[in-house]
Amino acid sequence: MEDEEERLLRLVALRNADSIFLARQRAEQELVRVRDSLQAKTDALARSLATTQAMLEERDRARAEADTARTAAQAANEAKGRFVSMVSHELRTPLGAIGGYASLLDEEIHGALSKDQRKYIARIRHNQQHLLRLVDELLDLAKIESGQFPLKVDGFPVQLVVESVRTMIEPQIRASDLRFEVLSFDTALSVMADRERVEQIALNLVANAVKFTPAGGTITISATATAKEAFLHVRDTGPGIPADKAEEVFQPFVQIHSQTANTNPGTGLGLAISRELARAMHGDLSVKTEPGGGSTFTLYLPRVG
Ligand SMILES: Nc1ncnc2c1ncn2[C@@H]1O[C@H](COP(=O)(O)OP(=O)(O)OP(=O)(O)O)[C@@H](O)[C@H]1O
Ligand SMILES: [Mg+2]
Repeated sequence: MEDEEERLLRLVALRNADSIFLARQRAEQELVRVRDSLQAKTDALARSLATTQAMLEERDRARAEADTARTAAQAANEAKGRFVSMVSHELRTPLGAIGGYASLLDEEIHGALSKDQRKYIARIRHNQQHLLRLVDELLDLAKIESGQFPLKVDGFPVQLVVESVRTMIEPQIRASDLRFEVLSFDTALSVMADRERVEQIALNLVANAVKFTPAGGTITISATATAKEAFLHVRDTGPGIPADKAEEVFQPFVQIHSQTANTNPGTGLGLAISRELARAMHGDLSVKTEPGGGSTFTLYLPRVG
């Protein structure tokens, strides 16, 4: 009996030992599996850390490059501004002298002039003024482009600009065979900009419309708005601008239409200056050609209220 019990106990102990051994083996296998999977995760983490590190370094490099490029562009712009101011000054001084001596001759202080001499002096003065204007405009453009152009930004109604442009352009309209109309718009519509500069832009646009629209045509001013922007449109029934030239005309000195001798030939700087001014006031200037000819220039400006 005793033996039987002992045998049974030994059997139970053996079984227990067996299952403990098996459980341990399973636990060890599980441990190996967990360790391997942990290792794989650690490896993946290390790889992604390395990638992130590389990306961060790349970003820092790109930022440093952008900073260098920005500084270089700014320095180039300032250098250009200084260069143009200097050249303009050097040009303006002798041009002033040319004008002055032409005036002295014209006043006949040193003797009477023949009809031809008077005619040639008038030509000298005409060309001198043209050059002077060109120098002034170039100087303005360089100043605006290099951000050295002071702007007096304030809120004002678009209506004021339209009225003063109408007054300024009236003599030219009367002398031409053109119709000029202003479509009614919200008189309270106001923008945040430099009023004098907006007038300059609007006048440039209307002067172009008058210059390029043949007799019998119509020039129309209107204004529209969205919640944030106001748009001033100057539309004409002239020859229009081909779509592939629509951007070019905003480049300095680009003139795509031959201009008749009796109109002011201009320098091709009006639109370049106008667009730079619009952009300096956080606006823009663009053009669309109407399907049946004619152009619409639109000035965008930030709206007030
Ligand atoms: N309303 C318009 N209709 C047709 N073409 C236009 C119009 N406005 C401008 N253009 C074209 O764009 C060119 C550039 O215009 P921009 O005002 O810059 O120069 P410009 O009038 O020739 O000279 P400036 O303005 O310096 O006196 C013009 O020469 C003309 O070819
Ligand atoms: Mg012009």
